[in-house]
Amino acid sequence: MGAYKFKKLVIIPLLLIAAVIAYSVCNLSQAKNDRIYSNNQNSNEFLILVNKNHPLSSSYIPENLTIPNVEFSPSASHEEKMMQGEAAEQLENLFKYAHKKDMNLYGVSAYRSYKSQKQVYDERVRRVGKKQADEYVAYSGTSEHQTGLAIDVTNEDGAQGRLMVDFGQTKEGKWLRRNAHNFGFILRYPKEKESITGYSYESWHIRYVGVKAAKEIYYKNIVLEEYLGEK
Ligand code: DAL
Ligand code: ZN
Repeated sequence: MGAYKFKKLVIIPLLLIAAVIAYSVCNLSQAKNDRIYSNNQNSNEFLILVNKNHPLSSSYIPENLTIPNVEFSPSASHEEKMMQGEAAEQLENLFKYAHKKDMNLYGVSAYRSYKSQKQVYDERVRRVGKKQADEYVAYSGTSEHQTGLAIDVTNEDGAQGRLMVDFGQTKEGKWLRRNAHNFGFILRYPKEKESITGYSYESWHIRYVGVKAAKEIYYKNIVLEEYLGEK
């Protein structure tokens, strides 16, 4: 068989089959996420996996969004202050406890709709280029900010736009890393797990998974993908 015929009869059909399989896998995981979210009684709703391989549908909006009674950075929009009910309550407890320990935490960005995430992503690509943007910002539909279970947090300096070092190196950042699990939150993108999570270290992004899972993830030093046995 000549090279041209080989390409036409073997390689092209193989590529088409691979594309169909990749598309189906992606659609299956989105359908699974949509199923979990269509039933708020599901005790696993806080364990939803949203990442580059597990997208949400563009129309998904959490039902029980509410604004936690905590301080926010002046840059936070009304939408970005919202979180799912139980996550919002636990965020209040986390921030209150931090305050007792003489630390002030601030919310920066929690819920982001599909549309807002697209704006955040497009803006980052414009500023730093696609390669660098993809290390820190999720393409819309693949961000757990769309679930209302994740929030970016900072300290007073961060809220005022004066943070000169990574939040993780501050007193508040170190405290958060050691205490968030007691309130059901995990540091979702830790150091040295980039190859699993698909994102560079983010000391500011915490995600609500419930106290039991958060403690297990923290003490085993694993990430949500490992906890769920998924990629
Ligand atoms: N920074 C995380 C990955 C997001 O944009 O969802
Ligand atoms: Zn985030």
